[in-house]
Amino acid sequence: MKTKIKFDLIAAIVALFIGTTAFAQKFENLALTPPMGWSSWNNFGDRIDENKIREVADAMVSSGMKDAGYEYINIDDCWQVSRDKKGNIVADSIKFPSGMKALADYIHSKGLKFGLYSCAGSLTCADRPGSRGYEYQDARTYASWGVDFLKYDFCNTDSQNAEGAYKTMRDALFAAKRPVVFEICEWGGSQPWKWAGKVGELWRTTGDIVDCWDCKQNWGGFGWTLILDKNADLGEHAGPGHWNHPDMLEVGNGGLTDVEARSHFTLWCMMAAPLIAGNDLRSMTSSTKEILTNKEVIALDQDALGKQGFRWITFNGIELWAKPLKNDEIALCFFNRSDVAKNIDFDWKKENRVWNGKPDGSPFYIKNMNIKDLWLNKSLGTTKDNLKATIQPHDVLTIRLTK
Ligand code: GLA
Repeated sequence: MKTKIKFDLIAAIVALFIGTTAFAQKFENLALTPPMGWSSWNNFGDRIDENKIREVADAMVSSGMKDAGYEYINIDDCWQVSRDKKGNIVADSIKFPSGMKALADYIHSKGLKFGLYSCAGSLTCADRPGSRGYEYQDARTYASWGVDFLKYDFCNTDSQNAEGAYKTMRDALFAAKRPVVFEICEWGGSQPWKWAGKVGELWRTTGDIVDCWDCKQNWGGFGWTLILDKNADLGEHAGPGHWNHPDMLEVGNGGLTDVEARSHFTLWCMMAAPLIAGNDLRSMTSSTKEILTNKEVIALDQDALGKQGFRWITFNGIELWAKPLKNDEIALCFFNRSDVAKNIDFDWKKENRVWNGKPDGSPFYIKNMNIKDLWLNKSLGTTKDNLKATIQPHDVLTIRLTK
């Protein structure tokens, strides 16, 4: 009898241990390349309803965005209004009368995936009910609705520890058994790049993006070039299944010229950033659509090697960004951050070694390679000759070097 009790105790401890370690993980093999999709926040804010979301899903398909690789339709803050008597989260029944499950089914029927938003605190950033204390219940609800992506914010968290709060939701999602891409959105305060790789697939590295070139808002928002600087040196922490997220795109939202929007998009691709469009897909101009669906530029972002590009050299107001690609190819982006046009005369013999993101990494040698301009879609010769070009203010010259 005594031995039996002992055995039961050991079995219980083993089961507990296996159970705990089995839950203490994220889903495997999600987001092996940076997630691509759309989110309601940057353009619609709280002005969301199910018709708009359905129309955006329709536009995602008819505009060619889906063919270009975008798959998530993510509803950000303000879809939720309260909790019922049992503590279940309740969606706004005026704006979403058919309910979240029906909306998810519609989105899935288009071959797309469905994302939702919640927050680690008691309230979301727009003061809607958050998930604190309801993590497991909410995760089960999301699974029953068919949620594929969860963005999890960090407002109204008092003294909550960020890593602990995100691990709780990770474990809750895992226990609910539906694979969900998990976005950690605590804006970089606790340096999530150091711990979040085991917790989610992507983490915000900065405060909120604002639809401008370099403005700064006193509530903590930044124009995209300032966001770029904050994300630029974090590349060593990113890779397949775990990405730095410098926030959603502002392409097509009106605050940037087409040239600036194209540069914004290109630099996000150079940094292997998640590509979450934030514009109204139902009414895109042709230039916005051309930017968001350029397959060769997207291919830099989605390259299977999963390296975040980095600022390689800065000269004469130009930043030269480099991104190693699979098969020993490389992407380079000459970014004219200044307000005047710049001529470049780039000597490949002088600058023939690119380090792999770190000065002590293995260098990448540029020998004789073919040069393709990805925005003009034309060959620019080979690296035998100097690369000569004029780059307009705020514009990029984006090339792929192939053998
Ligand atoms: C925070 C996030 C934004 C957005 C809003 C919603 O500010 O960083 O991306 O989700 O909350 O309230």
